[in-house]
Amino acid sequence: MSSPLASNKKSIFKKSLISVHKKLSHNHRIEILGKIISAQIVTLRSADNETKILDIGCGDMSLMETIQTYVDNVNPTCLDIYPLPEKFSDDLRWKKYRQFDGQNIPYDDNTFEFSILSDVLHHDFGNSFNLLKESLRVSKFTIIKDHFQRSAYSRFMLKLMDIVGNWGYGVALPENYFTETSFKELLKDVNAVEVKRINNIELYSHNYLLSKILKADWQFISIITKKR
Ligand SMILES: C[S@@+](CC[C@H](N)C(=O)[O-])C[C@H]1O[C@@H](n2cnc3c(N)ncnc32)[C@H](O)[C@@H]1O
Repeated sequence: MSSPLASNKKSIFKKSLISVHKKLSHNHRIEILGKIISAQIVTLRSADNETKILDIGCGDMSLMETIQTYVDNVNPTCLDIYPLPEKFSDDLRWKKYRQFDGQNIPYDDNTFEFSILSDVLHHDFGNSFNLLKESLRVSKFTIIKDHFQRSAYSRFMLKLMDIVGNWGYGVALPENYFTETSFKELLKDVNAVEVKRINNIELYSHNYLLSKILKADWQFISIITKKR
């Protein structure tokens, strides 16, 4: 799920956690989210020629790269808060990557047709108003993938998933998750309207046990735009 740039030094335990996470979840999650988000981009984009997409909090960039396999003529930009290690500086794959300060998106208004914030807002909850404002400023549509906590159980399990998915990489662990109400309030605060909501995203159907303990209604995608 997360950023290979976040921490250079990883213990054997962290490396094992990353390997378990990749096998159990990461690849399936990216494939499912990539397909759903791509279908929405194809429906909403204004033209078939070059679609500029910004992935804010891109992690390992696999979501953007999956979208590029489903959507033609994507011009991709990936942002995250970590510096690019020297070893990647000549790597063509990382040319689309740019570090930023996690606050100010370094592009002019309306540069992109789509911004993506996939499982990013809950990692910097206190900054979510600012990050959303910035994403609405630079793009026509913002595609948010995040979690809803629906009970003490879902909050506990979401935290556990975040530990497995992120701690090994050195990414800060979240304290909070959205509820339906707090998410609605945030959209009102940033003066945005929801164009589309996709609820109940089944990310774990490939694993019987995970699909029983992790519920689809904790996962949602919301596509928003500036209120006129
Ligand atoms: C759970 S990972 C998600 C990675 C990727 N978007 C995905 O869906 O696979 C959360 C990412 O958010 C990034 N992040 C945390 N705070 C951020 C901020 N203020 N602005 C942008 N990215 C941030 C982390 O560095 C990490 O790569």
